[in-house]
Amino acid sequence: MILSGKSGKTVLSGLAGGLALLGAATVQAQEISRGAVIASTCYTCHGTYGVSPGSIPPIDDISAERMISTLQGYRSGQRASTVMGRHASGYTDEEIREVAQYFGNLQKRGK
Ligand code: HEC
Repeated sequence: MILSGKSGKTVLSGLAGGLALLGAATVQAQEISRGAVIASTCYTCHGTYGVSPGSIPPIDDISAERMISTLQGYRSGQRASTVMGRHASGYTDEEIREVAQYFGNLQKRGK
């Protein structure tokens, strides 16, 4: 009885708004963490955050656009490689975009 009428509506719309916000935040968090998880598989060879400690090329200074076209080139075989073709073939376009954005965002944050 207390919740009926005007105040009942306010409570409900407030809850719906909160759920919508929660949904958006969850989607974003998933994307960030998937990019981060994929990126962590690159660190074995390319060094932490792509700052290579050895002879494998560093990938910390590559824009998201270049990263996407490079990985797609490796995947299709258009770009010659020893290991990257095989590695890139395991990723979908979506995953390539996410890992490229992750590396691109690292640059903007100054790593
Ligand atoms: C098994 C080791 C290994 C792993 C894991 C690996 N790479 Fe590579 N990467 C290489 C090597 C070696 C090259 C040089 C090209 C070649 O011979 O395959 C390279 C080249 C590249 C290049 C081109 C760099 C340039 O300046 O030309 C990019 C971009 C790249 N890798 C991105 C990635 C990303 C992103 C990941 C993770 C999803 C990754 N690599 C995982 C070994 C690795």
